[in-house]
Amino acid sequence: MVLPGDGTGPEVTEAALSVVEAVNRRFGIRMDIIRGDAGFSCIKKTGTNLPQETIALLENSDCVLKGPMTTPEGSDSEMSVAVKIRKKFELYADVRPCRNLADKGKKKIDFVIVRENTEGMYSGLDFMVSSGVAIGVRVITKKGTERVGKYAIDLSEKRGRHLTVVHKANILKKSDGMFKDIIIGMAKRRKIVVDDAHVDAMAQWLIKNPEKYDVIVTENLFGDILSDEAAMVVGGVGIVPSANIGREYAMFEPIHGSAPKYTGMDVVNPIATILSVKMMYEWMGEEKAAKEIDRAVMDSIRKGIKTKDMGGSNKCSEVSRYISKSIEKGKG
Ligand code: IPM
Ligand code: MG
Repeated sequence: MVLPGDGTGPEVTEAALSVVEAVNRRFGIRMDIIRGDAGFSCIKKTGTNLPQETIALLENSDCVLKGPMTTPEGSDSEMSVAVKIRKKFELYADVRPCRNLADKGKKKIDFVIVRENTEGMYSGLDFMVSSGVAIGVRVITKKGTERVGKYAIDLSEKRGRHLTVVHKANILKKSDGMFKDIIIGMAKRRKIVVDDAHVDAMAQWLIKNPEKYDVIVTENLFGDILSDEAAMVVGGVGIVPSANIGREYAMFEPIHGSAPKYTGMDVVNPIATILSVKMMYEWMGEEKAAKEIDRAVMDSIRKGIKTKDMGGSNKCSEVSRYISKSIEKGKG
């Protein structure tokens, strides 16, 4: 299932779908691709950003590739499509790999942020209690913490380095105290090397020593903020993908927004969406296809086929065309 999104969303999703076609041809993978309507542009047509018809299509699909969407901001406006889907399908782990793909010769940065994706400040409990007073409730549960903790620990075990739990337990003693204690306890029982950091300190360490980190697990809002910061550390939001993982369903999307001012200009970097598709193949168990996408992306960067944000002068569609061709040929 594909939700193309708003603004430059359709451009980056079509670019990524051309890569999907190349991968499926090369590896003989069969896939029915169904497009659905959702997002800001959908509100005018249907009155909502996620119509019932689209929800039914999502329910009948195995997973979804979602383009960036514009989220309305008025105080009575709807919840964002991403948050609605994360909650509905309990996509509890938002996995955001950050690598400095284009920095030849520099220290290798390669860490993954695992963001709790269903609770925290995104619980939707945000009220006006009286005139001039509003409260937002930050929910942390044992169940939510354990499941995202397990995901991060499994990933740490696979990657073989270490886990960092990011929290603010010095101030949020109950909620983040529990989050921190549960995950550190689970990691120690699994013999994972684990440390922890306050989120404010982490914000500076990610800039100072990004190469030191391996897997970072944190609650929802901290993960949202740190992942945009981390993206800038590794080369910009245009190259960081994400996978929203649940027990049976998953959503793949670039971490960046819909960049409406560039709509129709074919200039936005498609790599974040293409690498999100790579994560989709990993999730499907198609490891070879996933590795091939990575190889072709690295090949395009090495050859200098890059959009402006990466210092190049290529169009979005030129980058995806190069990557698709490289996959079809099986070499750079
Ligand atoms: C992200 C985005 C979303 C979020 C928005 C669009 C709702 O910033 O995926 O990081 O806040 O989670
Ligand atoms: Mg974000």
